[in-house]
Amino acid sequence: MATDPLEKTPGSTPGSAPPGAPAGAAPAADSPSPSAPAATATADAVPGQRSDTPMIRFEQVEKRYGDHVVLDKLDFEVRRGEHVTLIGPSGSGKTTILRLLMTLERLSGGVIWVGGEPLSHARTPGGGLKPATEKQLRASRRKIGMVFQQFNLFPNMNVLRNITEAPISVLGLERDEAEARARELLELVGLGDRVDAHPTQLSGGQQQRVAIARALAMRPDVLLLDEVTSALDPELVAGVLDLLRQIAHDTDITMLCVTHEMSFARDVSDQVLMFDAGRIVEQGTPEKIFTAPEHRRTREFLNAVL
Ligand SMILES: Nc1ncnc2c1ncn2[C@@H]1O[C@H](COP(=O)(O)OP(=O)(O)O)[C@@H](O)[C@H]1O
Ligand SMILES: [Mg+2]
Repeated sequence: MATDPLEKTPGSTPGSAPPGAPAGAAPAADSPSPSAPAATATADAVPGQRSDTPMIRFEQVEKRYGDHVVLDKLDFEVRRGEHVTLIGPSGSGKTTILRLLMTLERLSGGVIWVGGEPLSHARTPGGGLKPATEKQLRASRRKIGMVFQQFNLFPNMNVLRNITEAPISVLGLERDEAEARARELLELVGLGDRVDAHPTQLSGGQQQRVAIARALAMRPDVLLLDEVTSALDPELVAGVLDLLRQIAHDTDITMLCVTHEMSFARDVSDQVLMFDAGRIVEQGTPEKIFTAPEHRRTREFLNAVL
């Protein structure tokens, strides 16, 4: 391959559609004024300028639906290029974390930082933070790509259009350039010969490969993967996991992955976060979490899924 399909291009222009998001998805305005702590503007607040700035930082992040506390003052960091797996029982808040990062949901409290910049807040002239406007959220969303359990391809578009749509409408790429990028990515995911197919003509595994290519076409800083093999027929799972292993190995993209595929998690993760009831109960290397879990909830969960 002559060029790296994941290399970032500078100078792209802002647009409007949510990349990789299901059609019609919009942030829920359940909390118009999250209780943001005062921002501490430091030298490392310039995106991409310092390698020690975490790629993702959750600071006292809360998410509530009515009285139901889904995420409880959550703090964690993900370094640039790190591959982090979120594990934990159903309902523990894993998908909510990814949806907050994709700005498909609003925070109830706290701040999420991406590359040293507030994701769903804007800085005020006085150095504080205020909730971001829709326009600012659209700009934030461009840093993040997400792949969903149910693929969420645009059913009325062929494979090529599924991948070129957001780079053209959101990044302002010329069609030729967007198509060249899409074709390279389709080669990468093993579907170079299916550019004209429609989603219904593809297997689940092929559709998920297209969804992965579509997310990567936006050259996001962060790739979010939410149980991306859970809806696949068993014989198609290994191929998609191998593709993700390859992406994790060959690129420096930061990956945040929710999966029940524990051997995959073990292979690709730098860090595993074990969730229960909206909190991290234990975190560490896959070695530690899978071979010497300290917390009772981690042991119970692993016994149930392994
Ligand atoms: N839109 C919503 N309205 C109300 N409750 C929700 C909504 N989305 C998620 N929840 C609740 O938040 C909790 C965490 O859900 P989720 O993040 O999907 O967990 P996980 O992905 O770990 O299974 C669950 O109790 C779920 O019922
Ligand atoms: Mg989930």
